[in-house]
Amino acid sequence: MTSRQILVTSALPYVNGDIHLGHMVEHVQTDIWVRYQRLRGHNLRYFCADDTHGTATMIRAREEGIEPEALLEDMSAIHQADLAGFGICFDHYGSTHAPSNEKLVGEFWAALRAGGHVAERDVTQLFDTEAGVFLADRFVQGECPRCQAADQYGDNCDACGATYTPDELKNPTSTLSGSVPETRTAKHLFVQLRDFQDFLEDWTQTGDRIPSETANWLKGTFLSEPLRDWDISRPAPYFGFEIPDAPGHYFYVWLDAPVGYISATQDWCDAGGHDLADWWKNDDCEIHHFIGKDIAYFHTLFWPAMLKTTGYALPKKVHVHGFLTVNGEKMSKRKGTYIRARTYLEHLSPDYLRYFYASKLSSAVHDIDLNFEEFTAKVNSDLVGKVVNLASRTARFVEGKALAPYPDDGGLFATAAAAATEIAASYEACDYGKALRTVMALADRANEYVEAKAPWVIRKDPERADELLEVCTVSLNLFRQITVYLAPVLPDLAERGASLLSAGPITWEDTQTPLEGNVVAKFEHLMQRVDPKKLDALIAASQQ
Ligand code: 2FM
Ligand code: ZN
Repeated sequence: MTSRQILVTSALPYVNGDIHLGHMVEHVQTDIWVRYQRLRGHNLRYFCADDTHGTATMIRAREEGIEPEALLEDMSAIHQADLAGFGICFDHYGSTHAPSNEKLVGEFWAALRAGGHVAERDVTQLFDTEAGVFLADRFVQGECPRCQAADQYGDNCDACGATYTPDELKNPTSTLSGSVPETRTAKHLFVQLRDFQDFLEDWTQTGDRIPSETANWLKGTFLSEPLRDWDISRPAPYFGFEIPDAPGHYFYVWLDAPVGYISATQDWCDAGGHDLADWWKNDDCEIHHFIGKDIAYFHTLFWPAMLKTTGYALPKKVHVHGFLTVNGEKMSKRKGTYIRARTYLEHLSPDYLRYFYASKLSSAVHDIDLNFEEFTAKVNSDLVGKVVNLASRTARFVEGKALAPYPDDGGLFATAAAAATEIAASYEACDYGKALRTVMALADRANEYVEAKAPWVIRKDPERADELLEVCTVSLNLFRQITVYLAPVLPDLAERGASLLSAGPITWEDTQTPLEGNVVAKFEHLMQRVDPKKLDALIAASQQ
């Protein structure tokens, strides 16, 4: 197999919020794909960053009485620690506030200007005179202009679903100061997306770059009429990059956010002496973005238009996932189902969640439900009951001994080795649920073998020591083969499986040949069942 050069990104978390289990769907999804590709020996780099700009950052820093830069630094450290806690293996985690990003954004802007894609128009917005800021939709509340429901935000009504602009809200108040905002008009700059209509029509509707669900939605919602101009500037005060040729105006956060993918790469290049063009201006490098369906439109309309204008490579694929619900509902702080990554890690193993999410993920853009009963049942029955069991029921009988020459196992190892192609295709397609079902079927067969051989009976008869070693050699090899297949999802388990059998660093090829002669190390606990008390404690902690 020839080695591929691949650049992967996950969406950039907003600096203002904590990482929660919703974010983890995406980061786990991406990380599994990344680890799978690395296991295949591909030349891959994985980047992410904090998404830092916007009114919300400015307000929060103001509330905390610190400079926005100080807030950025604190939050970046917290985000990186949370993500590392789940084993997410970035090559670099950057910031959209980095100097490298400002420079690149300037390059994108110059190209958009030079291409004649920028227009200028007045925009009327609500302005909070007490806080001294223009109010983004989410900072205004009032009555729905259609159904009169109270306490609705400036963009849409929770009660009747109407969408509107903030100045259409009745009796608006600012959520920042509680004051009644006034309307003010200011100049805004726009990118004329209709200049890219034909290109985007082609880019989104042909080829295999985005999921068909997303392509159809774009077609029905946006591409069936002339694309509207995209408002990419905000007047001061705004925390962001000032627009070089429009002093007093700042780039809207969504203009500079995706450029953060490139600037994170740039920072990594600068640190290690690499060349950015090798990754972002190279037809041989595949770029893969992983995002949620709520931001598909930025990544499949605006971003490709920006890349095309500036001459950076377009993504080979945009992988889109759905939303997370917990116990069938939107995450709720009151119900203890709004779970921060950190809180989760204080109570439960990240491996449980990695496995559970993987089992639910497919290449379709569907929502995922984290149902705690199902979560517990799956982890206990699959991981503890089927996988770890293979080692825990046999390793102790042969501790300190060398594995036998691989005996006749009735074709079990060979059958499982032949499944590599199918499992690989499932990982490649992000159909992790399918990959895991295939692997668990192999685990079932391996367990049937152990059950039938009953090594715990054989070991009682000293005359049958050779037979015991052979049975354990089969069981431990099948265990190892399975943990290598699971390595993208459960890298720690795979590592520990390898050290149990004194094996070297894991590669995908390990699934093809059984180990012989390796010394079996002392058996250490590999994974425990989900403790219901800890799960309850997690939910209680999330309610606070
Ligand atoms: O929706 C979000 O959470 C954004 N912060 C994602 C940005 S992704 C990229 F475009 F920068
Ligand atoms: Zn309404």
